[in-house]
Amino acid sequence: VTVVARAPGRVNLIGDHTDYTGGLVLPMAIDRETVVTGERGGDRVVLRSTYADGPADVALDVKDPRSVTPAWARYVAGVVHQLGRPATGLRGEVTSTVPVGSGLSSSAALELAVALALGFRGSPLELAQLCQRAEHLATGVPCGIMDQLSSAAGLAGHAMLIDCHDLTVRPVPLPDDVEVVVVHSGQPRALADSAYAERVAQCAAAEAVVGPLRLASLDDVATIADALVRRRAAHVVAENDRVRRFAAAVADGDLVAAGRLMVQSHESLRDLYDVSTDVLDALVARLCSTKGVFGARLTGAGFGGCVVALTEPSALDEGWVVHAVAGASVVET
Ligand code: GLA
Repeated sequence: VTVVARAPGRVNLIGDHTDYTGGLVLPMAIDRETVVTGERGGDRVVLRSTYADGPADVALDVKDPRSVTPAWARYVAGVVHQLGRPATGLRGEVTSTVPVGSGLSSSAALELAVALALGFRGSPLELAQLCQRAEHLATGVPCGIMDQLSSAAGLAGHAMLIDCHDLTVRPVPLPDDVEVVVVHSGQPRALADSAYAERVAQCAAAEAVVGPLRLASLDDVATIADALVRRRAAHVVAENDRVRRFAAAVADGDLVAAGRLMVQSHESLRDLYDVSTDVLDALVARLCSTKGVFGARLTGAGFGGCVVALTEPSALDEGWVVHAVAGASVVET
């Protein structure tokens, strides 16, 4: 059997560092994708790649995905492990137009494409959950569900309002007279993994005091004694509210309000959550001072990588305009 499995990257319009406490996010799957092409058969998964250092060569009964080399093969190994000894191996190649380590979910795209190529059967949510577990296993980073679910459940022409508690996905149609532009800061993400895990732990500490952050108010948050934990929680609570208001603003065609919320989100990620950098801040400020830009913010985990802007058509002559696309898929012949 020959397979061609494709999975898109994603850009998050608003709602960062909210998914792992069951909050709200508003991403879209984008027209940058990872493609796994190959022949099923054999008892190993062997994938060449044009963009990574050396092939992935993973046994179907791989025990410890984190010890696999080269590093990118850990994602493959995590998926193989989570599929629970797939019935068949695969020999083929990976190509990708999702820039690696840029906040556009190149790893989620790789995981989904590999899972589909190896014959995963199930709903988009089940695919996302399997790949989220694969990512935990591959990297040890306790990521939320946003990236994998965005890539699995993508909808052409729509962003998605995802409730990461009940895992419902509500389509948010994007107006025709607006562009979503992704601009790379040129700054590779540094120390993102350990800082990410630390933020997850700080949110857990906040929830030990006030209960689930998705249900908490800013008054609840004010009762948290630890100043750092209080700031983290204040970001999450306000960010969930901004996601709701952003979805409403887009539905009303109020792009000025939507852009303002993006900027507030960036400021909160910078000042309360401490995941921005000087380079990202300067880029957001520059984009926001450009005529026709409604708003801009860091997107994804932060610490470098890309910025996303909402603009009038052709307002920016840098970065690339992205379009919302359908989720991951596979063709077998
Ligand atoms: C990374 C994680 C996601 C999410 C974002 C921040 O992309 O994989 O689960 O937490 O960071 O919003």
